[in-house]
Amino acid sequence: MPEGTSLSILRRLPPTEVTNRWTGARHGLPKAYGRTDLVVLGLGVMIGAGIFSVAGRQAATMAGPGVILSFMIAGITSLLVAFCFAELSSAMPTSGSAYTFTYVIFGEVWAWLVGWALVMELLLATAVVARAWSLYAAQMLADLGVRLPDLLARITGQAEGFDLFALFILVVLTAVVALGARVGLRTLWIIVVAKLLAVGAVIVVGATHFDQRNLSAIPVPAVPAGTADDTLNSPLLGLMFGQTGAFGWFGIFAASAVIAFAYIGFDIVATAAEEAEDAPRSIPKGIIRSLVITTVIYIVVALVMVGMTPYDRINPKAPLANAFRQADEGFMAHIINIGAVLGLTTVVLVLLVGLTRVMFAMARDGLFPRPLARINRSYHSPTRVTLLIGGVAILLAEFVPVLTLEPLVVIGTLFVFIAVAAGVIRMRRTMPDLPRGFRVPLSPGVPIASILACLWLLVNLQVITWLYFAAWMAFGVLVYLLYGRRNSVLAGARPAADPLGAESRGTESRGTESRGRHRR
Ligand code: ALA
Repeated sequence: MPEGTSLSILRRLPPTEVTNRWTGARHGLPKAYGRTDLVVLGLGVMIGAGIFSVAGRQAATMAGPGVILSFMIAGITSLLVAFCFAELSSAMPTSGSAYTFTYVIFGEVWAWLVGWALVMELLLATAVVARAWSLYAAQMLADLGVRLPDLLARITGQAEGFDLFALFILVVLTAVVALGARVGLRTLWIIVVAKLLAVGAVIVVGATHFDQRNLSAIPVPAVPAGTADDTLNSPLLGLMFGQTGAFGWFGIFAASAVIAFAYIGFDIVATAAEEAEDAPRSIPKGIIRSLVITTVIYIVVALVMVGMTPYDRINPKAPLANAFRQADEGFMAHIINIGAVLGLTTVVLVLLVGLTRVMFAMARDGLFPRPLARINRSYHSPTRVTLLIGGVAILLAEFVPVLTLEPLVVIGTLFVFIAVAAGVIRMRRTMPDLPRGFRVPLSPGVPIASILACLWLLVNLQVITWLYFAAWMAFGVLVYLLYGRRNSVLAGARPAADPLGAESRGTESRGTESRGRHRR
């Protein structure tokens, strides 16, 4: 039972509040996703800037051909964590995903911190990918011979400063999500297939230009042990060992931490749980299958990329397309541009959907203002919170140099991953009988390995990234103490069994469980 008006920061959400949603207790979103849809959702959000942009940049500047190993390290870490997500989401299929799991298992303040990290991860990732979308869209037009007037050219396809294309994609996709994304799922399928065809073409055509000698050109560390100036930009681990430059093993590890960005998204499949059919079984499958497919694709694409172009000739701006241009396969550059523009569109779309679901859950619990949890009666979607998120993402994308902040997305994600892996270990002890649709094999070995792997990636992130993250989390603690602690449903603000209370009446039709599946 909820703990009345307790102000304890460790009060926990009763498991029944989450598991009872199978009978409709906390439910508010219509069913939308079948089993295969969830795999498509995972592919839609994972395959994006990570492979189209980040991989090439890391190969050119940090890891050389060793970027293949970087992809393997980040991929194995993600797979370990995915098992943990699969178990918790099969026991607690809820929109809040890691946030709600933590609420049930560890208590409110930890849940808030995880939710706060998730908000940063997803908001920043949305802004980063929107910027990458703009770069590829501008490249696509340029390659097609479309010359924009100077005035427009100066505000499109830019890495920093105001960018019209980034604004365009965020406005359009925010509107799509706010309108209930009914067009979303069908469009998602088509775009994901197109993206996979483009990636498939990269692999097949790239393989014909494969030159093994490019793989053996392992670059040695390029910059000698650090000067005071590069301390902030050095990976923590490299700094400890006096290796602040790129390449070598430290470069490969540092690249693997940044490349974890490419795998972000399997965790978002879990946020679709309240809209998925047979969630306790379909969500774990959706998470693991989409991640396995993505990992294989990434490793093969990375292999092809560094096999066809010497690492020091990879152009960090639109690297894949440029690799093919250098190989006199100009036609492929068009395919990659189109694949990237389509692919990055679905990434932004699903990131926005995932973030709305997390914030919706946090608002439903009273940790954000509760009107944000209202579901629009016409669109069956949390429209308000969607518009808020879209607005903030636009501000970030337009006024912050987000393309340099990918590591910040990663650090927030790894923090969440550790909470989820620790949650599996603890839930096995404290709630052994809670029904689960999936169990992590070899527990607690796999969760412990997940935590260690995440810690390893964390120490390979830059010092400056740690400082930014610490500042964000400290701000989060302040917000919680000033707002969430008092307004939480568990503080007695509203009875937890009817968390939407009067707000939902008039805005949400009851009995959404029986509404059946809504094809989008
Ligand atoms: N994994 C997503 C991407 O690479 C965020 O764009």
